[in-house]
Amino acid sequence: MDGKRNGTLDDNLVWHDHPVSQEEREKRHGHRGVVLWFTGLSGSGKSTVAGALEQALHQLGVSTYLLDGDNVRHGLCRDLGFNDADRRENIRRVGEVARLMVDAGLVVLTAFISPHRSERRMVRELLPQGRFIEIYVDTPLQVCEARDPKGLYKKARAGELPNFTGIDSVYEAPEQPDVHLDGQQLVTHLTQHLLDALRRQVIIES
Ligand code: ADX
Repeated sequence: MDGKRNGTLDDNLVWHDHPVSQEEREKRHGHRGVVLWFTGLSGSGKSTVAGALEQALHQLGVSTYLLDGDNVRHGLCRDLGFNDADRRENIRRVGEVARLMVDAGLVVLTAFISPHRSERRMVRELLPQGRFIEIYVDTPLQVCEARDPKGLYKKARAGELPNFTGIDSVYEAPEQPDVHLDGQQLVTHLTQHLLDALRRQVIIES
């Protein structure tokens, strides 16, 4: 890789290849490194399903790491808000972190609303071919709003939370997700469905 992937680096930066290759790291882990990118509305169940899947994978001996929007916004992205530019930067940073973790050979699960198709495409293009698996947690807005686990929809409807996804900020549903989940099904069922999909795609062993 050259040192100018973003076109913004100066000429004094040189890319160093690692002495231990991605293949060697993957061999050590016993599986491929991939990103399982969950997208969906707030309250759709992304974090819950991603968490349950991480637990199941961990028990199977897979090296995993879960990056979750609410947590990442306490640290790495604490300076960002929810206008379109900040959401884009949020997803760019998470994409770069996920890329490093995939290079390290991990199965990275991410749970971000990631409302724009262009940003999800940006992350897919950041990663080597076949290493980005888009999982759409499809839960209708009315259902998310009825669940309202953090009371944020209520605040948004009251005009106290501007730019809230689904209310006054857009959510662009994936057109061709790699996995399309019905977010109203039981978490155990969805987890099993995902494990089967990962086995079919030979990401984890049968
Ligand atoms: S993203 O759009 O940039 O991908 P991210 O997943 O990091 O969003 O954060 C979403 C979480 O932030 C939601 O689950 C919710 O708890 C909280 N949140 C606070 N303000 C907003 C808002 N305006 N729109 C959506 N979520 C918000």
